[in-house]
Order: sequence, then structure tokens, then C-alpha cells
Amino acid sequence: ANPSLLILAGDGIGPEVMDEVKKLIAWFDTKGIVTFDVSEGLVGGCSYDAHGTPLTDETMARAQEVDAVLLGAVGGPKYDKLDFSVKPERGLLRLRKEMDLFSNLRPAQCFDALADFSSLKRDVVAGLDIVIVRELTSGVYFGEPRGIFMEGNERVGINTQRYTESEIARVARSAFELARKRGNKVCSMEKANVMESGILWRDVVQEIHDKEYPDVALTHMYADNGAMQLCRWPKQFDVIVTDNLFGDVLSDMAAMLTGSLGMLPSASLGLPQANGRPKALYEPVHGSAPDITGQGKANPIACILSFAMALRYSFDMGAEATRVEKAVEKVLADGVRTADLMGPEGGTPVSTTQMGDAIIAAMEAS
Ligand code: NAI
Ligand code: MG
Repeated sequence: ANPSLLILAGDGIGPEVMDEVKKLIAWFDTKGIVTFDVSEGLVGGCSYDAHGTPLTDETMARAQEVDAVLLGAVGGPKYDKLDFSVKPERGLLRLRKEMDLFSNLRPAQCFDALADFSSLKRDVVAGLDIVIVRELTSGVYFGEPRGIFMEGNERVGINTQRYTESEIARVARSAFELARKRGNKVCSMEKANVMESGILWRDVVQEIHDKEYPDVALTHMYADNGAMQLCRWPKQFDVIVTDNLFGDVLSDMAAMLTGSLGMLPSASLGLPQANGRPKALYEPVHGSAPDITGQGKANPIACILSFAMALRYSFDMGAEATRVEKAVEKVLADGVRTADLMGPEGGTPVSTTQMGDAIIAAMEAS
């Protein structure tokens, strides 16, 4: 059987950037390299509009069956006032939770052509290649109790940071495994100075290291210092492992080291299935960008690089993944830029479609 993909383009610029990935999938098919069985579904606001829910049970079931899910983005101002139970993000959170995608890989890689565009000095970012592993299925985004309650005559907003030992252990393992394939170095970040969950996090990561991965260099850092160090000298890191909330913030910050949110891919992996492949969802880090939706301005590279990660992690097509990444590098080196990649000196940006076409032309030439 052909490898299977479920495409959930979602809201805002999601469908715009996903169109460029579809072109790439068609290109691989035409070239006889690989043919995917592609199905499509709705997630987020568009699913709420059509079905009254951000993710139907049918789409959820399909996501469990396929080899990999590719997602665009969800959300937008139109849905901000909806009840939390049907908010667009809920569709994404349900996918992550039910597929048990506990390990979120967010690479921050600085392409040489964009080093001058970073908010930091070229020296600090050129050649940067780090991965933030963010715990994705637990922590403060899921802990109970949560809600807005009355306390006396005023409202109180409550969320709960909660981690079990096994939740920490499995994400630590995925970070150590990744580190062994890279620079063999992990830095774990928490706030053990002020949080009980942080103390447990630090202890468990250390225990897993000592028992199973003594060959990997492990350090610990408070997450606020980690944020500072990421700005100061990010190349000191290789793999960073951290919880859901800190990982959300730190990876957005790492995004700015590389130039634009429009460049950052991600993979979310679960446990290996019977066929040996982990459950997997690939998506750009950025959101639905309502401010530029429908204008052809969206940078499709984050979505395209997410597809490259799918080739590498779900389909054992590392060489083809590298080929996509090299095509992106080539196009950037040639000076092709979407608007988000233009410096203050300006120039003429290309559209979403033109960027996708340029990347395919570079694939063709490679
Ligand atoms: P955002 O990532 O959508 O946009 C932040 C800024 O970056 C905007 O100025 C946007 O134009 C720009 N940007 C983002 N992606 C870009 C791309 N590919 N090319 C060029 N520019 C790009 O984050 P924001 O504005 O905080 O959220 C907008 C909506 O997206 C909200 O409804 C939010 O809930 C949702 N969201 C969804 C996510 C997801 O689907 N995983 C993640 C983050 C936000
Ligand atoms: Mg975020």
C-alpha cells in the first residue's frame, strides 16, 4: 500500500501554505519518487462552521489510521468569542491528546542567507542548528482544576501545572534519543526554584539520564535563564527539553533567532505503532496569520519544511527530506523572499505561490 497522509489545512493562511505542499506532493508523484494516498479533512474554525465542532469524530478516526497528518493552522478573530469547548485550538489539542503526541520537535535552524536578517548579530546565529523538544500532552494546558470561578465576590482564573513521572520520563527519552543522533547534548529547562513540578522534572530527567543515557551530556537550566542564554549564545545548545508552557514560549523566541515565524517547521511524535512508525503530526509553528490571510503574502517554507520532517521521521526518506531542505536553502541564497523575509531596506517580495514554484524549480535542478 502507498504511504498515507491526512491533510488538515485549517484556517487563515493554512490552506494557502498547504497548497504549496500539495504541489510538492504532486511533484514527487509525477517524478515516480513516491505516491502518497492523500485524504483531506477540516480542523478548527472551518470545521466548526461546517459541523459545529472543531474536529469531528470521523476526522479524528482518520487521523489515527494514517501514517502522518499534515496540518496548516487553526483559529482567527471570527472564533475568539466561542466557548472554549468548541474553540478552533480545541481541534488541535484533541488531535495531540488522542494521538498521544507527547514529543514536539521544534528545530531552529539558521540558513546562511538569512543570518543578517535575524534580530541578532550574524556571528550569534549563523550556522545555528538546535532542536527544542517540548512536552505536548500534559502540563498547565490540561491540568485540572481549570476555569474561572467565583471566590467571594470576585472571579478567579485557575490553571494547574501537573506532571507525572512517566510523562516526564518519556519526553526525556525522546530528547536523549534525538541527541544521540545529533550533538549528544541535552539541556533540560524548568523552574525547580519555584515549582514542585519543576523539582520532579529535574529529578526524573536526571534519573533517566543516569540509568539509560549516561553517554549524553546533560545540563539543567532555569527556564528564565534559558530564555536569556538563547538570546545571548544559542549555539551553546543542541537539544533542549522542556515542558509544554515553557516550550511554547521558548520555541517562539527561538523562531526569531532564525529570522521569521514563517520559516519554522515542527513535528509532534507519539509512541511507535505496530508498523514501527510513530503516530505523527507535522505543522508549521506559526498560526493562521489573519492579518495577511488571502493576500498571497504567506511564507510557505515552514509548512514545506514540516513536510520534509514528515519525509524524514515518518517515511524514512531522509535523502528526499534533505533534498527539500537544500532546495529551500538554494532559493533563499538566490535572494527569493516572501514579505516576512525582507529587511527594512526592502526589495520586491514574491508571493506564496511564487515561493512554492521556486522551491520546486530548485528540486527539479537538484
Ligand atoms: P500567527 O503566527 O498567526 O501570526 C503572528 C505574526 O506572524 C503575524 O504578523 C503574521 O502575519 C506573521 N506570520 C505568521 N506566519 C506567517 C507566514 N507563514 N508567513 C508570513 N508571516 C507570517 O500568531 P497570532 O497572530 O498570535 O495568532 C493568529 C491566530 O492563529 C490566532 O487565532 C491564534 O489562536 C492562532 N494560532 C494557531 C496556531 C496553530 O494553528 N498551531 C499557533 C499559533 C496561533
Ligand atoms: Mg506558540
